[in-house]
Amino acid sequence: MADEKDWFHSVVPEDDLPPAREIDTTVPHIARIYNYWLGGKDNFAVDREAAEKVMRATPAILPGVRANRAFLGRAVRYLAAEAGTRQFLDIGTGIPSANNTHEVAQAAAPDSRVVYVDNDPIVLTHARALLTSVTGTTAYLDADVRDPATILSGAAATLDFGEPVAVMLIAIMHCVPDEDDPYGIVRRLMDAVPAGSYLVLSQPAKDMVPEKSAEAEASLSQAMRQKVQFRTHAEVSRFFDGLELLEPGVVHLPVWRPDTPVAPDDPVTAMWGGVARKA
Ligand SMILES: C[S@@+](CC[C@H](N)C(=O)[O-])C[C@H]1O[C@@H](n2cnc3c(N)ncnc32)[C@H](O)[C@@H]1O
Repeated sequence: MADEKDWFHSVVPEDDLPPAREIDTTVPHIARIYNYWLGGKDNFAVDREAAEKVMRATPAILPGVRANRAFLGRAVRYLAAEAGTRQFLDIGTGIPSANNTHEVAQAAAPDSRVVYVDNDPIVLTHARALLTSVTGTTAYLDADVRDPATILSGAAATLDFGEPVAVMLIAIMHCVPDEDDPYGIVRRLMDAVPAGSYLVLSQPAKDMVPEKSAEAEASLSQAMRQKVQFRTHAEVSRFFDGLELLEPGVVHLPVWRPDTPVAPDDPVTAMWGGVARKA
């Protein structure tokens, strides 16, 4: 293994990954549903059926997931290229797609360190392939966002928590309903990183297209046999309490520092997101 002190060396702790777990193809999983919405092929009939049902409930879902990936790219590029961030803790990685966090960050700053975290066995399987092909410092943790202590101790093998870290929670917190203490989880993660760190967070909106969102939320919860919770602008903003929100704040994702002007008749995405700095 490469010297972990050498930021330009590849650190590929593939051998540290746990054994692959069985992939349950009888119950839809959010990583695979999302992969279907993004046009990927890593999904099963149950996922496609659940995904189609949500699409019927809310056609905003497809522009929403595309806008979400584009937001991820713009936020990471801003942090790596302009804000000088060199460490990324990306929780809720998903099945690899275009412009994954390490690709965007390391294109702007090759010395960027990225730790991915997810709890889905299919993402773990993809992580094995991903980690053999990366050239920068990138690691993967098979862990649950509801267990921040395990995430922080595992990530400390790759990230220096004495230096700023961008904590990324992109389209994952709707999988953590209020009874699982989502605000406490975000607070514990942000308490562990020093001043100059960032929180990047997006999640489905409850209040942009209320009736359709309620149907999509109910349909996803029922299919996944797990409660998902969409949130209002105020509820998403609460994740950033105590942090300095960057302009333009918590917004409809396409208007977060767009590369090209957003037309007024562009589709609604039904996703809120923002980026904030820890002072
Ligand atoms: C909708 S995908 C988002 C993927 C990526 N962040 C993006 O925005 O493109 C949500 C991801 O969060 C993961 N996830 C959901 N609940 C989780 C949990 N409790 N702990 C860890 N990961 C979780 C899912 O497995 C899935 O890969």
